[in-house]
Amino acid sequence: MPIQTDPLTSEPYIRLPPPLSHIIVTPPRLTDPQTSSIISPASPSLASTDSRDHLTVPAADIAARTAALNDVAVYDWLESPPYPYSAADAASFVRGGFEDCRRIFTTLHSQPDGTNVRAWADGCPFRDIRDTSALAPTSKDGESDVAQAPLVGDVMLSRYTYYEIQPAESNERRVARERNAALEAGGEEVVWGIGFWLSSTHHKKGIMAIVVQTVLSEWAIPRMNLRVLMGSAFVGNAGSVAVMRKCGFKELQTIEKGSVLLAESRGGGKRDIVVLRWERPGISS
Ligand SMILES: CC(C)(COP(=O)(O)OP(=O)(O)OC[C@H]1O[C@@H](n2cnc3c(N)ncnc32)[C@H](O)[C@@H]1OP(=O)(O)O)[C@@H](O)C(=O)NCCC(=O)NCCS
Repeated sequence: MPIQTDPLTSEPYIRLPPPLSHIIVTPPRLTDPQTSSIISPASPSLASTDSRDHLTVPAADIAARTAALNDVAVYDWLESPPYPYSAADAASFVRGGFEDCRRIFTTLHSQPDGTNVRAWADGCPFRDIRDTSALAPTSKDGESDVAQAPLVGDVMLSRYTYYEIQPAESNERRVARERNAALEAGGEEVVWGIGFWLSSTHHKKGIMAIVVQTVLSEWAIPRMNLRVLMGSAFVGNAGSVAVMRKCGFKELQTIEKGSVLLAESRGGGKRDIVVLRWERPGISS
């Protein structure tokens, strides 16, 4: 399904195809506390110089993110979020994501119309997975189902960090990471990595595999020129590996103690990880 825009809030979103059309993926949101309206990083009126300090992270999004990332069925399989995960962690993550997405949309808006100049997006702004069949606790009359849809997960594309180059602290890995991060958006050599989670209420309903496929077909391929996507999971994360396999990823290798050093609150030490690779059909590298 193409990218749609909520007529009530002007927020762009992607809706999954049936039978999962109650699931949408939006950019991170802020709200204007004076009007309670959703502010999207896609809004062309958001100038880079505007202060956004007065905007707030929606309370329902903070609550949903905090609950999920303190749920052992979710956090135990993730490498980077802090644990315990606080409301402040959630707010700062959403604000950071909002600014990142605003930069992505601004680059696209600033291209001249009607020319052959094409700005590739340097990332995917569709990250917040929401369920329009469930009402947010804070929902109000007159709001659209898109605006009211509670957050149920996250999907994130970022420049790949080369797990297969070990050890993690090695110079070789740092150089590879920095080189990949410095490549121009849309470049054929850019290697992307994917991360995702869903609230445990939404596990095993076939959602994540379709989210990944939809984000790839609706944004990452046509707007980012994404060609190679890497995924990694702790060994034993059957759900994550199954999702990636279903999307066409192939297992590359298993790396003993290949994760970053985990915080003591998450058991400490390093865990074994499996690395998978997806390549866009029709390209050969
Ligand atoms: C991993 C995760 C995103 C999977 O999402 P999901 O929507 O539940 O997965 P899907 O329902 O799309 O499943 C796709 C396939 O994986 C299989 N699968 C899903 N969870 C599974 C599990 N725990 N064990 C075995 N297979 C599983 C499904 O059966 C399905 O296969 P099928 O289509 O042949 O039936 C979700 O379990 C989650 O958020 N886990 C915690 C966080 C996490 O692990 N993130 C990834 C870090 S690398």
